[in-house]
Amino acid sequence: MTGPLILGLETSCDETSAAVLRGPSHLLGHVVLSQDVHALYGGVVPELAARAHLQVIDDVVAGALREAGVGLEDLDAVAVTAGPGLIGALLVGVCWAKAAAFALGKPLLGVHHMEAHLFAPSLEDPEAEPPFVALLVSGGHTMLLHVPRWGEYVLLKQTRDDAAGEAFDKVAKLLGLPYPGGPSIQRVAQAGDAARHRFPTPLLHGGQDPSSQDYYDFSFSGLKTAVGNRVAELEDAGTLESEIPHVAASFQATAVDVLATKTLRAVEETGCRRVLVGGGVSANRLLKEVLAERLGDDGRLFYGSPRISLDNGAMIARTAAFRLEANGASPLSLNASAGLAFPGLRRRGAPEISSTR
Ligand code: KG4
Ligand code: ZN
Repeated sequence: MTGPLILGLETSCDETSAAVLRGPSHLLGHVVLSQDVHALYGGVVPELAARAHLQVIDDVVAGALREAGVGLEDLDAVAVTAGPGLIGALLVGVCWAKAAAFALGKPLLGVHHMEAHLFAPSLEDPEAEPPFVALLVSGGHTMLLHVPRWGEYVLLKQTRDDAAGEAFDKVAKLLGLPYPGGPSIQRVAQAGDAARHRFPTPLLHGGQDPSSQDYYDFSFSGLKTAVGNRVAELEDAGTLESEIPHVAASFQATAVDVLATKTLRAVEETGCRRVLVGGGVSANRLLKEVLAERLGDDGRLFYGSPRISLDNGAMIARTAAFRLEANGASPLSLNASAGLAFPGLRRRGAPEISSTR
């Protein structure tokens, strides 16, 4: 095993995670702790997330080091999610990493959370390398990218409103299912008939071509409203309880259809039949099945196991291994940024985008 020994920290939302990685892909230790306090509120409460990170971060790092059989002094670099995310939560990881890098006299690396979701599948599959079309679907983002090489990200589209994961979370709440919504909907939908309820497929209609303004656009707030209206009707009719699996299955099928259709449009236009799906929603089984089916035998679909798809420290260390070599370390003045710009992101034919806000 060669390459630097990197500690990766992730605290951008409601997972506290640390990983020890040797080189680009030898994962030696990995601890992911999901905060359960938010289930009480049906969504992540930022202040509680920050406090919970603070309480466990020392133990989470110690656990990852112990599993790897190394000490802090053995590390070659300390990497951390610098954004985007919840600012209070991000600050816990960034402050911890800065203090450790300073005390150890080792390089510090601030990592972009969504770039890390792109790198995650390569931890498990050495072939999950560019070029590929990437669908990034998480609780905060929905992005369609063309990635000719690491560090070069051509943005085809991002969502106009709610992110895909946010739509799963909000629909789950409407149906009275526990947070996080994605796994709840997937579980309940297994017993449902996806053809029972018809919901509109937002920004998806015949007659669109690559020159159409909304060809790649995603919008999930209309779909969420349509589900909300149906739930109200079923409640009035007194049949909601028995219809929950069917509504969940119908919503899931609609959301997956939109995501897969737009991704396949990007495949056709770029001529690149290699697709990577990353972010928490890529843990969705139906999404992977539909993408694989539509890509066909001459395409390749890359995704990580659920542990690597959901927020984790391993993907942060993996991205840092690339960034350390490509750009060197971050300054110790690194700060957390809720709207951190995606490094190397540009619109087609346009210069780099300097802010995601
Ligand atoms: O990437 P992630 O762990 O955190 C963010 O960066 O936001 O993604 C979390 C999102 C949540 O919205 C959650 O409901 C969704 O991913 N999710 C899923 C599934 N597992 C997690 N959505 C659909 N199906 C799943 N199986
Ligand atoms: Zn994430």
